[in-house]
Amino acid sequence: MSERQHILDQATRLRAKVQAAQVAAHVGMPQVVAIASGKGGVGKSNVAVNVACTLGRLGKRTLLFDADFGLGNTDILLGIMPKFTLADVVSDGCPLADVVEALPHGVSLLPAGSGKVAVANADSLVMEGIYYELEQFTRGFDVVVLDTGAGIGDRVLDALLLADRVLIVTTPDPTSLTDSYATIKILTQRDATKQFGVIVNMVANQRQGEDVFAQLAHVAKKYLGLTLESWGIIPLDPRLQQAVRRQQPVVECFPGTIASLALQQIARRVAGQTAPAAPRSLRDLCRQWLYGAGSAAQPTVLQPTLVPAPVETPAANASRSTMTIHA
Ligand SMILES: Nc1ncnc2c1ncn2[C@@H]1O[C@H](COP(=O)(O)OP(=O)(O)OP(=O)(O)O)[C@@H](O)[C@H]1O
Ligand SMILES: [Mg+2]
Repeated sequence: MSERQHILDQATRLRAKVQAAQVAAHVGMPQVVAIASGKGGVGKSNVAVNVACTLGRLGKRTLLFDADFGLGNTDILLGIMPKFTLADVVSDGCPLADVVEALPHGVSLLPAGSGKVAVANADSLVMEGIYYELEQFTRGFDVVVLDTGAGIGDRVLDALLLADRVLIVTTPDPTSLTDSYATIKILTQRDATKQFGVIVNMVANQRQGEDVFAQLAHVAKKYLGLTLESWGIIPLDPRLQQAVRRQQPVVECFPGTIASLALQQIARRVAGQTAPAAPRSLRDLCRQWLYGAGSAAQPTVLQPTLVPAPVETPAANASRSTMTIHA
């Protein structure tokens, strides 16, 4: 055997060893799905809560992690009053296991708490500690559903970067669409491997949802080189608003209503996914974005901005949104 062949064989064996070690480290890691948006009030928390509850019914061990630090309201949507929240973890070092609330069908909730400045202002070191503990804690789950806050603040981006897949919730509202694009753009600059799905919520009909997705997919492809996946179209449904007022997930109190059917379909799709083959460590990710060590972040490139086109007529706007790109 030539010396060159010998070196090549050694390299192959070494690579196989490293891969095996990485896979072993990855065993037991859940699939992490984040629900995000640019604009607030588009239905993220309702998507997160209902998808998590449906996943539980499908037999998936699910953790609903309210990562809307300081303004979390998943507990309200579920009609529960948690004894502890993440604020107690941050300020008093309360163990995560004590904060988690058990919900029906094997779903667990990690509540953020509302109006808790401690979490909203927690420093990077504290957050790293929490994410590290979370990594150990989540090993027993199949899926972690992250509900995040609106916008592109650092805490939101931190949470989104943890996810294997980010599901962006948008409405047909042009401002929601442009904010969705901005969020995708910024996340892609931080992590070029991030996978995005789009959920169009509060649509008047299927056609409107398809149009909205097509617009976002088109600009993401053209200006970011990204292929977006359509993950669902949820109709505007008064039953969902009724469920919110009842503080119950719509999939539980009106399982047959149109919004519930769409939400159940999204959950089934999440259930069909597996955790990514590429092993990842939450702790490493934390370090990467907190301190930039070995960061895969890309330099900020001047990107075209997406702005809504002028509205033509109220009637036209009711059925379809339009956007144009300004470089
Ligand atoms: N499909 C729907 N049909 C009807 N109303 C809806 C639908 N989705 C959401 N809503 C309404 O929008 C409100 C806001 O929803 P939600 O709290 O889930 O939004 P959010 O994006 O999490 O908001 P925030 O950015 O403040 O966290 C709900 O209380 C409900 O009234
Ligand atoms: Mg919310």
